Amino acid sequence: MKRIQVINGPNLNLLGKREPTVYGSRGFDDYLEELRRAFPEIQIDYFQSNCEGSLIDKIHEVGYNCDGIVLNAGAYTHTSIALRDAISAVTAPVIEVHISNVHKREEFRHHSFISAVCRGVICGFGLNSYRLAIEALTL
Ligand code: DQA
Repeated sequence: MKRIQVINGPNLNLLGKREPTVYGSRGFDDYLEELRRAFPEIQIDYFQSNCEGSLIDKIHEVGYNCDGIVLNAGAYTHTSIALRDAISAVTAPVIEVHISNVHKREEFRHHSFISAVCRGVICGFGLNSYRLAIEALTL
């Protein structure tokens, strides 16, 4: 069985309550159930943290033994060289995802420190960005 790790970064624990016009009104736990039902042949593990170091620790922990990582690094996307180095260090392919289309938003969201070391980037499809990322990992 394939094992894919979904990692959500800061403030994404507030999905459903946080800026619903940007991120929608659905909580991630509810969406995760749908995601697991959509890919019954894949073990989908989930981790969320608001702390940069904990996200890095999780990438180190799973990045040598899972089949892929779907990472929404939240605002750390635009700030964290440490997260980029963690992605470069591990062997599992990492897909960068964003719920919103960051390129339609403020300029500071247009630059990602992690895109260049990820397998690919999916953004702007709402929560379906995660589903598309898992599909990409199964190609
Ligand atoms: C986000 C976009 C980021 O710019 C923002 O800081 C987030 C969420 C997204 O999923 O659209 O926290 O990664």
